Amino acid sequence: MTNLDIVTKREAREVSAVSRPGVSAHRNTFRNFGVCSLLAITVILPRLDAQRREPDPHDVEAGASRYNNICASCHGQDGDQVPGVDLGHNTFRRANSDQDLINIIRNGISGTGMPANKMSEDAAGAIVTYLHAMAKDASSNTSKGNAAHGEELYARSGCSACHRIGGKGARFGPDLSDIGRYRRSVQLARSIFDPSADIAPENRLVTVVMRDGSQIEGRLLNQDTFTVLLMDRNENLRSFDRSTLSAVTIEDKKSIMPSYKGKLTDQEVADIVTYLAQQKGTKLK
Ligand code: HEC
Ligand code: HEC
Repeated sequence: MTNLDIVTKREAREVSAVSRPGVSAHRNTFRNFGVCSLLAITVILPRLDAQRREPDPHDVEAGASRYNNICASCHGQDGDQVPGVDLGHNTFRRANSDQDLINIIRNGISGTGMPANKMSEDAAGAIVTYLHAMAKDASSNTSKGNAAHGEELYARSGCSACHRIGGKGARFGPDLSDIGRYRRSVQLARSIFDPSADIAPENRLVTVVMRDGSQIEGRLLNQDTFTVLLMDRNENLRSFDRSTLSAVTIEDKKSIMPSYKGKLTDQEVADIVTYLAQQKGTKLK
């Protein structure tokens, strides 16, 4: 890497900060850098867009949780549930800039169903950052499959040997009855192709070793200082007193779920994902 590379990368980050909400120091940054940096800026301009889409992970996380709490009830996890509005692909009818989006979020759109939200510029800015992040990994059209076909494939692929939807199926894997409420289509697709990529804490594989050396494996539902609660392969809910165990190992890198990469086509996964995204019911016991 050359020196120039290092400088331009750093400046690219600073320039990119300009387009991010909540950053007020940018004017000074420009003045202080002077002509030289202007040259550098000119050189890296074509890369700006890509740079802007590498946002601060903390902003994305804060924005995601706000989006899920406040916006998803109307707009959906993928931002496509309000007819004519698509929040997930950086194409807005009423906004040309991040500032427009922040204003819409804070003030609502009068005469429409879009409500005002009491929150600071920064809080709204984090949601905007999250919307951009959504667009970045929404390139695949996993939410445009055929749900009826997806339901068939779900049954045919043996998913219900581990999962439960609407009270039917097994309990070894997580209940998917309301998965459409809290996972986006891209995340669902990733779960099917690459289950080990992202495992929720309560879904990790745990192995407990008893004092006599016997082992029990299952999905870790909960744990604290004294107990480990798991669902074993026979769907028994089992609680262990840690003092009776000689070891507890928790696997967070490798899922218990098999990958369906190479077993299902992209279109088939899109169909299953579309079916799963519609599961928004409450879990039945
Ligand atoms: C009560 C339902 C509801 C909630 C909650 C809601 N919205 Fe909306 N939103 C709408 C509706 C309906 C529209 C369409 C308005 C119109 O007719 O243009 C809309 C429009 C928008 C637009 C304009 C889209 C465009 O193409 O220009 C943005 C941006 C937006 N909403 C973002 C959000 C964000 C971010 C949140 C959460 C902070 C949120 N909305 C919460 C109902 C809602
Ligand atoms: C051998 C049991 C097994 C089979 C078969 C199986 N899964 Fe899973 N699945 C799991 C387990 C365990 C987890 C939790 C660990 C993880 O997230 O990888 C999981 C996680 C998931 C998740 C993520 C849940 C979340 O909360 O994010 C989805 C979605 C999913 N499975 C869908 C499917 C689909 C669709 C099929 C069939 C094509 C399938 N699974 C087949 C065991 C299984």
